[in-house]
Amino acid sequence: MKKYGLIGYPLGHSFSKDYFTEKFKREGLTDCVYEVYSIPNLSDFEELIKENPDLCGLNVTIPHKIGVMYYLDKIDDAAKAIDAVNCIKIVKENPAESYFSGELSSMKVKLIGYNTDAYGFEKSLTPLLQKYHQEALVFGTGGASRAVTYILDKLDIDFQLVSRKSGRKQIKYEDLNKEIIEDHLLIINTTPLGMAPNINDCPDIPYEYLTSKHLLYDLVYNPEETEFLKRGKDHGATIKNGMEMLLLQAEKAWEIWNEKP
Ligand SMILES: NC(=O)c1ccc[n+]([C@@H]2O[C@H](COP(=O)([O-])OP(=O)(O)OC[C@H]3O[C@@H](n4cnc5c(N)ncnc54)[C@H](OP(=O)(O)O)[C@@H]3O)[C@@H](O)[C@H]2O)c1
Repeated sequence: MKKYGLIGYPLGHSFSKDYFTEKFKREGLTDCVYEVYSIPNLSDFEELIKENPDLCGLNVTIPHKIGVMYYLDKIDDAAKAIDAVNCIKIVKENPAESYFSGELSSMKVKLIGYNTDAYGFEKSLTPLLQKYHQEALVFGTGGASRAVTYILDKLDIDFQLVSRKSGRKQIKYEDLNKEIIEDHLLIINTTPLGMAPNINDCPDIPYEYLTSKHLLYDLVYNPEETEFLKRGKDHGATIKNGMEMLLLQAEKAWEIWNEKP
């Protein structure tokens, strides 16, 4: 049996579990299962790996995307630059030997970290970009924001972070005015504002200055059309929710788990 799973805490309903369980069924992968491992403390991580010798890959979610890096043998360059891991490939170094000796505990396990959020964001954003999308506003400064800004850097798009707290690299929502909104034609929400059940929430910005040249991208995928996107659409902006990014990052994880080392 090949086991895959998700670590995080607290874990309620999991998109990943539904996605992979459905995928395994659809593709007839009867030897694959996907489990949810709710671990409040990463000190339990090594035990989890030891107790589940069939594990081949893990997705990582809040609050472990940064802390888990400490337990990994290798981190790929993009994840290192982003400073967050949301996908772990588990490689057994001597499976045949350990199997025949019957000592699974002696099997060497190598853990390699990746960030598939960045991949999902890039792939879903680029088809929508126009030449004039040269400057972006990024709302929020958490883990997803770092994956987003890594890709903006890669695409050579200048960005300004917007946060609830001011800092050297970020401005506050109340600093946003007509000029800033008009100068930044790509606006990305990486905060959880507007996510179900709080569907009436949205970033506090002067929406009246949005135009048909604006592209609004919301990482939130539930509901399909957040209040942020609705307000953008009302001003003629192009809108995009986080569903395609979510699907792309999940498929990328599958590819990573199954590619030969
Ligand atoms: N579509 C996808 O594939 C995908 C992938 C990853 C994440 N996401 C979504 O992206 C969102 C953020 O995820 P994350 O992992 O980056 O979470 P996170 O690390 O907790 O960061 C979220 C950031 O949003 C800001 N924020 C939090 N609460 C806020 C509030 N009440 N008002 C205004 N700003 C607030 C904070 O930035 P400041 O402190 O700077 O204000 C915080 O750092 C979640 O909704 C998640 O579901 C989607």
